[in-house]
Amino acid sequence: MRISIIGSGHVGLVTGVCFAERGHTVLCVDHDPAKIKALKAGKAPFYEPGLQELLDKHRSGKLLQFSASTPEAVEFGEVIFICVSTPNIPGGGVDMRYFESVSRDIARALTGKYRVIVEKSTVPVKTSERVRECIERYAKKGAKFDVASNPEFLREGMAVHDALNPDRIVIGTASKQAEQLLRKVYAGFESKLLTTSIQSAELIKLASNAYLAMRVSFVNAVSRICELGGADIDEVTKGMGLDPRIGPHFLKAGLGYGGSCFSKDVEGMYHMAGELGYSMNLLKEVQRINEDQWLHMVSRVEKELWVLSGKTVALWGLSFKPGTDDIREAPAVKVARELTKRGAIVRAYDPHAMENVKKILPDLTFAKNALDAAKGADALVLCTEWQEFLEQDMAKVKAVMNVPLVFDGRNVLKAGALKRLGFTYHAVGKS
Ligand code: UGA
Repeated sequence: MRISIIGSGHVGLVTGVCFAERGHTVLCVDHDPAKIKALKAGKAPFYEPGLQELLDKHRSGKLLQFSASTPEAVEFGEVIFICVSTPNIPGGGVDMRYFESVSRDIARALTGKYRVIVEKSTVPVKTSERVRECIERYAKKGAKFDVASNPEFLREGMAVHDALNPDRIVIGTASKQAEQLLRKVYAGFESKLLTTSIQSAELIKLASNAYLAMRVSFVNAVSRICELGGADIDEVTKGMGLDPRIGPHFLKAGLGYGGSCFSKDVEGMYHMAGELGYSMNLLKEVQRINEDQWLHMVSRVEKELWVLSGKTVALWGLSFKPGTDDIREAPAVKVARELTKRGAIVRAYDPHAMENVKKILPDLTFAKNALDAAKGADALVLCTEWQEFLEQDMAKVKAVMNVPLVFDGRNVLKAGALKRLGFTYHAVGKS
């Protein structure tokens, strides 16, 4: 099939490249000419495992092309996926200006050829109605189109894997013709398809992310009770997860969730519910627990060191999770900023995210590697659970540190081994 993708960011580019991998002919469009130039030259604009390899594979063939022109995308694809960003407006609500502007551009380029216009970005419920109205307002008479919702559930760091092995594909549309075309797009994945109303599809995405964020905040709240009550959060969540109604996934306590999606979608869902007439205050508490979690870690470091001013703190990990260079809403960045504010000298290391952090926190000391970060440190805080941190020779780490003091913000280091080496070890949700 011929598919157009408008918006070649994390979602759009991965989706487009993976459609090409599945044999479709894909045109990826972006309004940023520099990004398109880089993509035409074969360079992925962000780090995502497997993406560069698929780009290399399909760029030279005929299945994957790039352009900065929305009219070209409308001419090219029978199905057009809108994958532009839908950020939060400071103070609440979702900024739909990019989505609206792309809808208008599509409308102006529509001809008599039938097109399915698909919301892939995460959007508030009923967005499809606004898209339809907008297109009808700006399109020439006789334009033939339908609107559908097909939310993405890709995890950063696993996005290529998730796109090629989806656990579900939600198609929301009232049009049989649109549904049939989308079924062709996802041929081979019939057992994963769920067809719903367009409003339900929009809400499935927001509700899924808000629920997952709530789960993380719930375990983080329980981790605080563990610290106060003498329990161990990893034992507690293991026991909870054995209940099939709860399940073992997404129960890992840590420094809180980060990334652009959860923060944005929890806020977006709260605001959307309010606009529809329902106060979903639960989500405010989810946010409060999340913000408290990384701050609590900084306070624990300060309490242990008595005074932070002039102390050196090594930070392992800056991205919001392993497998990505994305630092949006990363708890690690918040920890680094707060430690610096309280007078500490932060020596940070991350295998992929340092270039991004240099742009916003240039005053940190950026180390060459994990061991280098630990040099002369009065404390080490593990913020992101990159595999290489788990494989460090901790005897060497101890030898270069000023004080053998470790705060494990993701509960991934081996407590027993560290204690035998002479480290003082603190973790999340363990007294
Ligand atoms: C999330 C969803 O998982 C995807 O399904 C969705 O498509 C995506 O948002 C999106 O809306 O685009 P992502 O933000 O990539 O994906 O990251 P997750 O793997 O879900 O992790 C989010 C955060 O929660 C990370 O900071 C992670 O460290 C934290 N987390 C996750 C925990 O603290 N504990 C857990 O048990 C799981």
